[in-house]
Amino acid sequence: MGNLLDIKGVKHAYATASGPLPVLDGLDLSVPEGGFAAVVGPSGCGKSTLTRLVAGLMMPDEGEVWLHGERVKGPRPTVGMAFQNPVLLEWRSILQNVMLPLEIVPTKMSKKDQEERARSLLTLVGLDGFENKRPSELSGGMRQRASLCRAIVHKPDVLVLDEPFGALDAFTREDLWQTMHKVKEEEPFTGVLITHDLRESLFLADQVIVLSGRPARTQYVMDVHLTGKRDIEQLYTPESADALNVLRQQIRIAQGRDTEVAQ
Ligand SMILES: Nc1ncnc2c1ncn2[C@@H]1O[C@H](COP(=O)(O)OP(=O)(O)O)[C@@H](O)[C@H]1O
Ligand SMILES: [Mg+2]
Repeated sequence: MGNLLDIKGVKHAYATASGPLPVLDGLDLSVPEGGFAAVVGPSGCGKSTLTRLVAGLMMPDEGEVWLHGERVKGPRPTVGMAFQNPVLLEWRSILQNVMLPLEIVPTKMSKKDQEERARSLLTLVGLDGFENKRPSELSGGMRQRASLCRAIVHKPDVLVLDEPFGALDAFTREDLWQTMHKVKEEEPFTGVLITHDLRESLFLADQVIVLSGRPARTQYVMDVHLTGKRDIEQLYTPESADALNVLRQQIRIAQGRDTEVAQ
């Protein structure tokens, strides 16, 4: 198989008061070890549902989720997650927040090593000097940086990010994109990024998956042409403009606003 994450033919419906609500219907997604996939699609199409399936918080009605060669059949503590709202605990310092997963997921690291690891991650994302602050003392962008450290502190099998930069202003968001690249270089991870920002998907991922409208299936997969060290300037080349146009077109199809057949 060779993939770290494999989602095959997943179908899922939620039980609601007015009957079953089909959300996913034929979702396929494969991410090789060290790969970074971005998932884009219309609002409400089932993107967050996908993150719950990967973390094993929910079982699909049909289809399979494989992680590290094992079928996901229950909650997986080795999935790192970060969300639009960083949900940091106000009664703990930033350092203690980052160390939280190490208290939950069994680790062989000594307390001293755990703290050292958390401190070095905070330095990596530019938060040295903020270790003892409380979450409310940090800006939104800084909280999101801390949240990212917490998501990777226990070296998860896969990092799942659900619109982590959605609430940030454009400049802060671009700073965080650069930080993500730095983190990936120093702390290689396999990741899935849910986003509604097509430029973000192109800049960060090596594969962009467009989901159709609900019930969502994999509608289109794009291999990103950008490789290696990335620079925001690369988003303004004719090649990137073409790629963004293709993705925009796919989103229009997903939203049902375009009759052109998806490839
Ligand atoms: N626990 C649930 N019970 C019933 N419906 C749900 C539940 N969670 C999500 N939904 C519905 O399923 C659809 C997909 O939700 P979600 O995966 O959160 O979409 P997205 O993240 O793409 O916006 C939405 O219409 C949402 O209202
Ligand atoms: Mg969502």
